[in-house]
Amino acid sequence: MEFKGRSFLKLLDYSTEEIEYLLDLSARFKKLKKEGRPHRFLEGKNMVLLFEKTSTRTRCSFETAGHDLGMGVTYLDAASSQMGHKESIADTARVLGRIYDCIEYRGYGQKIVEELARYAGVPVFNGLTDEFHPTQMLADVLTIKEHFGDYKGRKLVFMGDARNNVANSLMVVCAKLGIDFVACAPEENFPEAGLVDTCRQIAEENRCRISLISDVKEALKDADVIYTDIWVSMGEPKQLWESRIKLLSPYQVNKEAMSYAKKEAIFLHCLPSFHDLNTKVGQQIYEQFGLKEMEVSDEVFESEQSKVFDEAGNRMHTIKAVIYAALADKDETL
Ligand code: CP
Ligand code: NVA
Repeated sequence: MEFKGRSFLKLLDYSTEEIEYLLDLSARFKKLKKEGRPHRFLEGKNMVLLFEKTSTRTRCSFETAGHDLGMGVTYLDAASSQMGHKESIADTARVLGRIYDCIEYRGYGQKIVEELARYAGVPVFNGLTDEFHPTQMLADVLTIKEHFGDYKGRKLVFMGDARNNVANSLMVVCAKLGIDFVACAPEENFPEAGLVDTCRQIAEENRCRISLISDVKEALKDADVIYTDIWVSMGEPKQLWESRIKLLSPYQVNKEAMSYAKKEAIFLHCLPSFHDLNTKVGQQIYEQFGLKEMEVSDEVFESEQSKVFDEAGNRMHTIKAVIYAALADKDETL
């Protein structure tokens, strides 16, 4: 396994063993952090974070991970850099690659992050694109492993907008790690056929299944993990709310849905989530459509089965592992 100098753009680029290694490394970093043992293994190195979309978890995780590793970190958002307006992606990549040791990018098309990586000459990390959100999945699987003690052979059901970046990446990670994946959605929101075929081939090698099921009760039977995400993702037009609400309301994760899964099942969500009226968007949706909660009911979100905040906390440890693997000469955590 060779990680040094490699970008982390999508999980399809990584083997099962490499993903397992990153999960182990994440757990080791989590332990170091918990024990208060300094791990400034990347002192003298610098990282730039490019955010064309907003973020709480991903930005804070990259910043904190970088600081813990002893790195310098620069944050640039769309309004405060030249990228895209006055300077092409290729030019930006060649400039930043000469100043920084690695680059994180959150934004629109996957092809942008792929182009950055092609020109930068330093590792580029995908902090979310329209198509994929690969660092999120490491935190998700780490959370599943911490809770159940394993993940192989488990069944994860994604409910709702099953063709978004989070659902796509979940399908890939499940196929790679031997987890049964079910996309539970109306047919028009099933993941794209080409990606499903690719994942099914990978799943076959790892003895697990990828299924697309519209019936909620059937999909959730024997589920260990129920996962959902927002119904309209960043970058999608606001006008989509009305049709998505109509289409996806039957796929809300609520008490009834949870009752179809295993008794010991857990609930995960990448966050942010619309489970109450304590957000501006939540309020607007309520005023327009009369909905008090959307992809998950507040009851499930706040229940014992919900592990969403442990999951969010794991973003930092897993992102630290990704940065470290790409930049370190040897594994000093061992
Ligand atoms: N889950 C996630 O990526 O959250 P942010 O949008 O806050 O980074
Ligand atoms: N699908 C969501 C994920 C947010 C972390 C979005 O892209 O907005």
